[in-house]
Amino acid sequence: MNQPIDFDQIDLMLPPPEQEPDRQYYFTAKAKRYAAEESARLGRPLTCCIQTFGCQMNSRDSEKLLGILMQIGYRETNDEHADFVLYNTCTVRENANKRVYGRLGYLNTVKKRNPDMLIALCGCMMQEAQVVEKIRTSYRFVDIIFGTHNIFKLAELWCRRYEARRDAVRKDAAGPGKGGMVVDVWDSADRIVEDLPVERKYPFKSGVNIMFGCNNFCSYCIVPYVRGRERSRRPEDILAEIRRLVADGVVEVMLLGQNVNSYGKTLDEPVTFAELLRQVDQIEGLERIRFMTSHPKDLSDELIRAMAESKKVCRHLHLPVQSGSSRILKEMNRRYTKEQYLELVERIRRAMPDISLTTDIIVGFPGETEEDFLETMDVVEQVRYDSAFTFIYSKRTGTPAAKMENQVPEDVVKDRFDRLLKRIQEISAEVCGRDLHTVQKVLAEEPDDHLDGYLTGRMDNNTVVHFPGDASMIGKIVDVYLEESKGFYYMGRTAGAGGG
Ligand code: 5AD
Ligand code: SF4
Repeated sequence: MNQPIDFDQIDLMLPPPEQEPDRQYYFTAKAKRYAAEESARLGRPLTCCIQTFGCQMNSRDSEKLLGILMQIGYRETNDEHADFVLYNTCTVRENANKRVYGRLGYLNTVKKRNPDMLIALCGCMMQEAQVVEKIRTSYRFVDIIFGTHNIFKLAELWCRRYEARRDAVRKDAAGPGKGGMVVDVWDSADRIVEDLPVERKYPFKSGVNIMFGCNNFCSYCIVPYVRGRERSRRPEDILAEIRRLVADGVVEVMLLGQNVNSYGKTLDEPVTFAELLRQVDQIEGLERIRFMTSHPKDLSDELIRAMAESKKVCRHLHLPVQSGSSRILKEMNRRYTKEQYLELVERIRRAMPDISLTTDIIVGFPGETEEDFLETMDVVEQVRYDSAFTFIYSKRTGTPAAKMENQVPEDVVKDRFDRLLKRIQEISAEVCGRDLHTVQKVLAEEPDDHLDGYLTGRMDNNTVVHFPGDASMIGKIVDVYLEESKGFYYMGRTAGAGGG
């Protein structure tokens, strides 16, 4: 958005425009008017609370959703007693779904005390037909459901629900879900809607979507089914967004995609991720570039070179291995072997010896034997990750792996998981201490949750540092002397303060 939009200038006597994003500006203006009436009736500002489950993609979507709600006139709160509560859900593992159902039970009791409250659900879980069906029948107090492809429509859906409820109340309808639930879930997205309002969580750093969806179809993963086919944003849109962010005070961007290494393939004029990275690197005023997530099969030498030659690209790479067994990797449809992965790691380290590597590992994929598991342990020993996210395999209906025989017994998986986690933590404690007693550039991010007068920040390689400082330093990159290693993080002090 180059010019801020004056929502009060939009003529609501006209029918809604057909084109996006104009259509949404129209509905935002309408919702703003309704919300103002509601707020006047209650004699206080309206509040909204967004709870985000899952990954950075969802966090970024939540910033867009909050941007729309703030334009409508809501104030943000963490309290689930808010006037509008939105759950942005995840379905990557079964546990994520269970948590949402559990929390919905609680929301029902809150809504019984405040029937004016609106409850909305969106995100990956809503892309599953059986989930929507269950909510329609068993959670009828929910007001709005939408999916991952149409988050830009929040204002329009909000208006529909508001009007339906208002008309139902006028007719004196009773019962939960007065006026009916608004459900709008799309199977796929044919376009990317640009230029909607966004409310960033941090003023100094921001996620930037560069692509949506995934074409990989790893056999355990539900993401391609709920996030759709791979679509890349045009480089000029991405660069323009980053320039605006920088002008607005952002010093660090995280380029987001399910598989950033295959960025650009679907564009009319294809561009590689390495080319995009080099262009982002040129943006004046931007200090740090991160990206997530890289599929090892698509990580090119060209990208390694672009990273190594850049001063802004952070020395951190998240490179999910998932398993160390070539046999299991084949079953997972990952399209690389253990040897190819290790060789890739070697090439990356040769180009950037100080790089910090992190990964994702799944334990207990169907058919995983003790030998397969030991191959995974071996990769962990050889790579020596800075940290790793470990997951117990979760069966997702609709994925090829869910139909595989030889699901591994729970106690066996648990035992392997514990052994893996222990070893990862030991290695991590050794590896993360390597910068002790040096001065590092740290982006001061927020007041420390536990220590008064301290800030929390991140080094270039993503390691967390706690150090004494005041709010005026937040958003700045400062030199910090690392005094003490605590395994996964450091205690430090600003270099120059008190010697060292
Ligand atoms: N079970 C367990 N973990 C999974 N992941 C994705 N799908 C599953 C599943 N069915 C993990 C992968 C991925 C991370 C985001 O979640 O490790 O990289
Ligand atoms: Fe969850 Fe994956 Fe969806 Fe992210 S993309 S919200 S991790 S299911």
